[in-house]
Amino acid sequence: MSGNPGRCPKEERLWREEFSVSSAEQAYVERRQFSRFLVLTSGAMFAGQVWLMAKSWVAKAGSVVWPRQPVAAVGELPVGEAKVFQYPGPNDNCLLVRVSETQYAAYSQKCTHLSCAVIYSAEKRVLECPCHQGYFSIDDGHVVQGPPPRPLPRVELEVSGGQLIAKGMSVFGERERE
Ligand code: FES
Repeated sequence: MSGNPGRCPKEERLWREEFSVSSAEQAYVERRQFSRFLVLTSGAMFAGQVWLMAKSWVAKAGSVVWPRQPVAAVGELPVGEAKVFQYPGPNDNCLLVRVSETQYAAYSQKCTHLSCAVIYSAEKRVLECPCHQGYFSIDDGHVVQGPPPRPLPRVELEVSGGQLIAKGMSVFGERERE
């Protein structure tokens, strides 16, 4: 016998008219909805993967074209001194350091922790962030000590016509982005 035993037949009929889907049909509808959900979810995940692959491919294709820009004359700075310049954009402060008679290094001046300006400590031979005592290697920009989570981006330099020319940027541990 079908129906609810505690309910009067008229009440049962009204309920059935308003919700006319039988439990067998209901199960069919739920399976169909679930299948549709699975197809849509899989489609969205597939589209996301394709987008990530395309993005990575564009990045690997080297879509960045770095400007070439003179930053100082060779010999302009005394050994151990530093000079601020802007690269690659007018608001991107960088620091050129004359590490020794023949060695120069240049890095973004923006600390990778909370963006304070780093300074060069000739005594410690490191780039130092005074905000939270973060230290970066002058050799390759890696984090020597403190809270910065990433290396300092390095400005690639070249000597040409007595000038130090900035020609790209790279990050320690990543593919050179020149
Ligand atoms: S902002 Fe440089 S260490 Fe925190």
